[in-house]
Amino acid sequence: MLDPYSIREDFPIFSRHTDRPLVYLDNAATTQRPRQVIEAITEYYSRSNANVHRGHYPLGEESDRLYEEAHEVVAKHIGASRWEEIMFFQNTTQAISSIAIPIIEWGLKRGRKRVLLTEMDHHSNMLPWRRGAQILGAKVDYIRVTKEGYLDMEDFKRKLGDDLIAVTFPHASNVTGILNPAEEISSLASKTGAVVVMDAAQSAPHMRIDVKKLNVDFLAFSGHKMLGPFGIGALYGRLDIMEELVPVVSGGGTIRDVTLSEIIYDKPPFKFEAGTPNVEGAVGLVAAIEYLEKIGKEEIALHEKRLVELLRKRLSEFDWVNVYPRSIPPSHLGVLAFNVKGTNPHIIGKVLGDFYNIAVRTGLHCAHPYHYAIGAPDGTVRASFYLYNTEEEIDYLVKSLEEIKVKYVKSI
Ligand SMILES: Cc1ncc(COP(=O)(O)O)c(C=O)c1O
Repeated sequence: MLDPYSIREDFPIFSRHTDRPLVYLDNAATTQRPRQVIEAITEYYSRSNANVHRGHYPLGEESDRLYEEAHEVVAKHIGASRWEEIMFFQNTTQAISSIAIPIIEWGLKRGRKRVLLTEMDHHSNMLPWRRGAQILGAKVDYIRVTKEGYLDMEDFKRKLGDDLIAVTFPHASNVTGILNPAEEISSLASKTGAVVVMDAAQSAPHMRIDVKKLNVDFLAFSGHKMLGPFGIGALYGRLDIMEELVPVVSGGGTIRDVTLSEIIYDKPPFKFEAGTPNVEGAVGLVAAIEYLEKIGKEEIALHEKRLVELLRKRLSEFDWVNVYPRSIPPSHLGVLAFNVKGTNPHIIGKVLGDFYNIAVRTGLHCAHPYHYAIGAPDGTVRASFYLYNTEEEIDYLVKSLEEIKVKYVKSI
């Protein structure tokens, strides 16, 4: 069984001196970094730093090798068969923004007209498609969610059709942690000939991902949500489709040749990785993946499941707390959204932070339509776990909430 106390020793932030120990429960926003990741970045700058794919001198070639190996490590980590299927971007948002327009353009050329999103999507997997559709003249549709926050699969089936360019959905909600029936969605969507794009920003850090089993054509995630550095995210893309897409973000490093009348793009992944890439980010991401794999994604998922179910159980004993959804989802991550009835979530978050040193996220979590659909238009308080969180921290959170209720929310 995973021991969060020994894991915490690898994370310098937990030994930072504060009056109260840091209880970090905002892992769905970003995670803390172990010294192995911090050291890998320092080592890169101290020994190997040079631009990539430009200089034919030993340092440049060493940097090339590290950057290309990072593609290989990511490919292996998510079950892709070739390193060329991995493209690096700044984060999930930039990855999706870089392919939404090319995919819509690709589909329109084939006589298709519609992009199917979900009401559960984070804005990062909603706005790029909406803007792309608006620019290019495609239609947008949504798979609606139930009041409890689950994707309405009947609605999905009604909205399938051979006019679909793409079906895109989050593997897991960043608000409720609900894991969607990904394989069923992908297989139904693929049958229509649509490109299947999965936002795995929340799932990839916490569970084993296998792009072949998931049957997706594209899958995006961010390094900073999985112990890696800020500024690096990865996109898996099916090579045959990527070869046909025309990038919207292009420039240095993306072409085979340019004349004043013609642009010949390089092969993937290079044609999508425009400009000088984040090499130290890629190196840091490799260190993060190695760290996670050493502990084991299955162990991590189990640990977080135990924690979130404990928190849900404790909170459901209080009639002054609303938990979203009300009962344990059949499949979920270590994320829980709740509200203290009649109290704005920001107030709860601020008091938890300022008086108890508990870091939670509050508000609409970049998922406004989803919050409106689940009946929480003012937002929620979100606790999200990772491998270094403990049962003791849950106990402290619950006791702090009880104290806040007595001291500050007397009217309830
Ligand atoms: C489901 C989901 N998609 C996309 C994103 C965007 O990630 P990033 O800010 O790293 O681009 C997030 C961030 O919280 C998310 O939760």
